[in-house]
Amino acid sequence: MAVGKRLDNKVAMITGGASGIGAESARLFAEHGAAVAIADINDNLGPKVVGEIESAGGSAMYVHLDAASEDEWREAMAAVGERFGRLDIMLNAAGVSGRLPDGSAAPRVGDANLENWNHVMAVNATGVFLGTKYAVMEMLKAGGGSIINISSIYGIVGSEHNAAYHASKGAVRTFSKSAAAQYAAEGIRVNSVHPGFVDSPMTQVIHDNPERAAPRLAQTPMGHFGQPIDIANGCLFLASDESRWMTGAELVIDGGMTAV
Ligand SMILES: NC(=O)c1ccc[n+]([C@@H]2O[C@H](COP(=O)([O-])OP(=O)(O)OC[C@H]3O[C@@H](n4cnc5c(N)ncnc54)[C@H](O)[C@@H]3O)[C@@H](O)[C@H]2O)c1
Repeated sequence: MAVGKRLDNKVAMITGGASGIGAESARLFAEHGAAVAIADINDNLGPKVVGEIESAGGSAMYVHLDAASEDEWREAMAAVGERFGRLDIMLNAAGVSGRLPDGSAAPRVGDANLENWNHVMAVNATGVFLGTKYAVMEMLKAGGGSIINISSIYGIVGSEHNAAYHASKGAVRTFSKSAAAQYAAEGIRVNSVHPGFVDSPMTQVIHDNPERAAPRLAQTPMGHFGQPIDIANGCLFLASDESRWMTGAELVIDGGMTAV
C-alpha cells in the first residue's frame, strides 16, 4: 500500500455519490487511491463530482442509477464491471428524507400516506437490499469486499418525525447484520453507519433555519452539526482493510446524540 493511500488498487461504487455524504466519501476514497463509480439519479451533480476527482488525478466514472430499480442495478453494475473490472467496496448512501417539500415532517402515522411510505422504503430500504445483493455477486467473484450501508441514528432511536424514515433506516441496520452473517465466511463484510445531524443538501432546509435547527443542536452534546467529511472518514475506515475483523457492526457518528 502506498503511503497515505488506504484504498490503493480498490474499486468502490457509491450510490447517492452526487451529493452530501456520498459525494464527500467519493472524493475521500479517490484521494486514498480507489477508483470510484458514482451512481445516482442526479445526472447533473454526479458527473461534476467525477470531474473534480479526475482533475485531482483520481479515477472515477458516473452511472445513472435509481437505487430502487433492480433493472437499473443490473445495468449499472455491468457498466462498472466493464470500466473497472471488479468491485471491492460498495457504499450504499442514496437516501431520501420523506419530508414534505417545505422541509416540514411528514404527518403523524394516522394521517400518513402510503405513497410517501412506499417511496421512502423503496429508496432507503429496498435500495440498500439491491445494492448489497448486486455487490455480493461481484465480491464473491473478487474473493471478498466491504459493503457499507448508511443508516442513521434514526435507525436506532425514534422521534416524533417521519416514521417511514425511521422504519427504513431501522431496516438497513438489521438487514446489514443479517447479510454480514450470511457472507462472513466468504470474506464479504457488511457494516452500517449511523450519522447524527449532518449539514448536507438533505438537511439544509432545517439547519439553515435557526428555529428548526435549535432543537437538533440541543440534542447534540458536542453542540454543533456534523459535516459530510465526518461521516466519510468513518466510511473510509470501514472500506479499508483496517476494519478487516469488523462485520455486522454499527458505526455511530453523531456528536454524542445517542449517548444521552
Ligand atoms: N444529513 C444527515 O443529517 C443524515 C443523517 C443520517 C443519515 N443520513 C443519510 O445519509 C445518506 C446521504 O444523505 P445526505 O445527507 O448526504 O443527503 P443528500 O440529499 O445530499 O444526498 C442524497 C443523495 O441520494 C441521491 N438519491 C436520492 N434518491 C435516489 C435514488 N432513488 N437512487 C439513487 N440516488 C438517489 C440524491 O440524488 C443525492 O445525491 C442518506 O441515506 C441519508 O438518509 C443523513
